[in-house]
Amino acid sequence: MTILTEDKSANVLVIGSGGREHAIGWKLLQSDLVSNIYYAPGNGGTSTNINLDTNQVPELIEFAAKHDCITIVGPEGPLANGIVDAFHTADIPILGPTREGALLESSKIYSKNFMRKNGIPTAEFRVFSNKEVAADYIISKDADVVIKVDGLAAGKGVFLPTSTNDALETVKKILVKKEFGDAGNKILVEERLKGRELSLIVLTDGSSFELLASAKDYKRILDNDVGPNTGGMGSFCPVPFFSDEIFHRTLRQIVEPTMKGIRDFPEPFKGFLYFGILIEESTNDPYLLEYNVRMGDPECQPIMMRMKSDLYPYVRSVLRGSLESMEPLQWSSEHAVCVVMAAKGYPGIFKTGSMISGLNSDFGDNITVFHSGTTRKFDGQIYTKGGRVLSIAARGSNLDKAAIRAYEAAQKISWGNNEQYYRKDIAKTTN
Ligand code: AMP
Ligand code: GLY
Repeated sequence: MTILTEDKSANVLVIGSGGREHAIGWKLLQSDLVSNIYYAPGNGGTSTNINLDTNQVPELIEFAAKHDCITIVGPEGPLANGIVDAFHTADIPILGPTREGALLESSKIYSKNFMRKNGIPTAEFRVFSNKEVAADYIISKDADVVIKVDGLAAGKGVFLPTSTNDALETVKKILVKKEFGDAGNKILVEERLKGRELSLIVLTDGSSFELLASAKDYKRILDNDVGPNTGGMGSFCPVPFFSDEIFHRTLRQIVEPTMKGIRDFPEPFKGFLYFGILIEESTNDPYLLEYNVRMGDPECQPIMMRMKSDLYPYVRSVLRGSLESMEPLQWSSEHAVCVVMAAKGYPGIFKTGSMISGLNSDFGDNITVFHSGTTRKFDGQIYTKGGRVLSIAARGSNLDKAAIRAYEAAQKISWGNNEQYYRKDIAKTTN
């Protein structure tokens, strides 16, 4: 791993194709220590893209070795499939947890047991693989529960039933009809908590950690948080209702016990660790809903907009296992907002292949347009290729000003026959 022991200019390979990966690469390219960023497979807004998918692990290893790259993994899928273990075997530096570390996200049961073992406040839960036994329990709780598929389900495996019938129907879909395949061999039934949610992300070398700014995402497709869940329709950073007092309690009760737990992992957890926090409405106590073993998308975009420090030395320290020697990350005092522009119809059926116009508009300072579901064709134009298409990220002296800038920029962009859609209330309702 020569690259880690010398201070020569580095190459970075970013694995993934979303706005999160574009934002990580955009930030790293600002470093004087970084020469080239490669994306596999990347999107229409990223370059240089290499024509490899996230599951072509031997080819990715070969590319990283040939170009002397440090590799950063964006999404959870390759982590859960063991991409980091394969890079380790080849002795190629990579940022992300091993398959075992990734269980914190890829198995909700593993993750809840980890929380329980480490005394981390989380909703009460029971595990079921039998429909009748699950049904008896749910009826005894008046269906005031949350039902979760154990394995990875692309953000679609959590259900908040509206009635007992709805809950029993959900259990049937998962355990009997196997709509989630083996990921749904077991379910968790959790106590339903009420309160405000936010995300807190750390970068860790498995021993010490650096805190990133707090952020909040908007999961539902429609304004006022209604309609189906999506991958995330917008975000902002930092979170105004995350007071110093609650922040310190979250550190003490959730982040530090987690760090203590992961220090026992056989291989150090090196990468981003995301805490999905709920501040309970009657007690103001922080609870941990979930871990993700990666940056959030779209939380990453406003976080990168506000990070003043050069990210690269932190990545290198994580890989070296020397994060403890780094100064705390520096942040802009400004606020950042991200509005996701999606294809009309998403998260249901939507069209792709429409040419996007307005991307070269004069957006002014403090705006960055990150791409996700886009592709650049041979004519040099950018076309839509997915549900979530662009993330418009803006900074401002307060949330309102940042949101106004993001929306002004979004209005300059369109595609097809007015086929773009975005929520109009991002950062307007902050709880
Ligand atoms: P998860 O993927 O486990 O974070 O769940 C996705 C979303 O479901 C969360 O962001 C919450 O909005 C909601 N949720 C999950 N667990 C609970 C819970 N125990 N109580 C209330 N809401 C929950
Ligand atoms: N925005 C939530 C996630 O990335 O899982």
